[in-house]
Amino acid sequence: MNVKNLSSFLDHPIFYVLSEIGKSHNQPVYVVGGFIRDILLFNKAKKEVDIVVVGNLLPIVEDFARIFSRGEYAIYENFGTAMVCAGDYRIEFVSARKESYRGESRKPFVQPATLEEDQLRRDFTVNAFYLSLNQENFGTLIDPFNGQADLEKKILRTPTNPDITFSEDPLRMLRAVRFATQLDFQIAPDALESIKKNVERLKIVSQERITDEFNKIILTPIPSKGLRLLFDTRLLHQFFPELVRLQGIEIINGIGHKDNFYHTLKVLDNVAKVSDNLWLRWAAILHDIAKPITKKFDEKNGWSFHGHDDKGAKMVPGIFKRLRLPLNEKMKYVQKLVELHLRPIALVDEEVTDSAIRRLIVDAGEYLEDLLLLCKADITTRDTQKLQRYLANFEKVEQRIKEVEERDRLRNWQPPITGEMVMQYFNLKPGPLVGLIKNAVREAILEGEIPNEESIAYQYMIEKGKKILQEQGITTN
Ligand code: CTP
Repeated sequence: MNVKNLSSFLDHPIFYVLSEIGKSHNQPVYVVGGFIRDILLFNKAKKEVDIVVVGNLLPIVEDFARIFSRGEYAIYENFGTAMVCAGDYRIEFVSARKESYRGESRKPFVQPATLEEDQLRRDFTVNAFYLSLNQENFGTLIDPFNGQADLEKKILRTPTNPDITFSEDPLRMLRAVRFATQLDFQIAPDALESIKKNVERLKIVSQERITDEFNKIILTPIPSKGLRLLFDTRLLHQFFPELVRLQGIEIINGIGHKDNFYHTLKVLDNVAKVSDNLWLRWAAILHDIAKPITKKFDEKNGWSFHGHDDKGAKMVPGIFKRLRLPLNEKMKYVQKLVELHLRPIALVDEEVTDSAIRRLIVDAGEYLEDLLLLCKADITTRDTQKLQRYLANFEKVEQRIKEVEERDRLRNWQPPITGEMVMQYFNLKPGPLVGLIKNAVREAILEGEIPNEESIAYQYMIEKGKKILQEQGITTN
């Protein structure tokens, strides 16, 4: 069905040239998928363009790359696709095809196909739009499954029986959740049922693809919507059992605790309101991850989760490794925030000394601002009066942190006395004694015994160092 003329969005040389190339090889060429979906939804064209070529794509890609990228292109033989970067456009080429993931295999089985068959193998009707680049009807929209009606109804429907669509590529079950969250759409009831039935098929999908979709869900404005869907369909159970384990409330002697899964979702949404940082959002997801393994009930004090901050931080590398998340400073950042997430709130008490505040500033270092964002997001309660009170208290803590930080010049603080200075003054070789003296100076500054000033700290190093060395039976002049 030819519906609408969208040629104004194709007013760019890449589309005219593709049209010419297609004609010269006598092969039809179409734009497909998200590029068109976004135009119809938001009246905006993105710079990632998916192109379907009916027939062999290689001659088309080669001609195109010769003109736009000095002949350079990437070819993904496994998937039968190619990619060319043309200025700030990223063009993905694929041949019209039928593809399926057979049995336990992770590799798709691909066969050339007609345009109609290619349409049928698309994931959702709203992703199965085609814009013709062919001269006889350049710019004409082809909408084989009335995807426009689904866009209006905000519904994700599969072009064919969802069991077929999802078993062809089980990642699509996650894509359904991702698009539902990103676009605020509903998943059609039959598709939702099919996901629930087929969740276990996700195991044939590589972890990288799963995590990629999961990160896209996490990066949406209200990620809890996606996480609830993942939980309700049991997709989450397939790849993130630690998070699933947070769900549930246990009651003993009539005393229950928070449902830590729904609390975590609230914290994640709170963080999403104030930051686009994926890793801060990961810290929100993982901040209470060790609650189930630290949970205890005590007749006198009720429920406790002692040490869930430390234990949670220790769980981070294992989870990152399994989910193929980066094992670099991003992981360390998440780990640090999980480890420290209880510290700021513990400072609400007015009796808290400046030294406790100084320690937090130094321990959090460059992550202090993000830690405070996480900690504030962690204040969740349905009781609005309580919430206001807690938030007001927290603002006081933030204020005190700011004052101490400015007064004591603790931003990115490095102790003024280095190991080198200690070794030189006492004529020591590297070893534990150097650390002992250096640390004593650091402690004295953090405890407020001496000010954060190099000359005073140096004097203190001399006196304290002598004492420490004497205790060890080492004489100094
Ligand atoms: N597609 C599919 N099944 C998949 C992945 C992709 O059917 N598992 C099809 C869809 O028609 C999709 C098109 O390939 O529109 C391009 O895929 P992709 O670039 O991943 O998605 P977009 O729809 O462009 O959306 P986004 O860029 O937001 O991921």
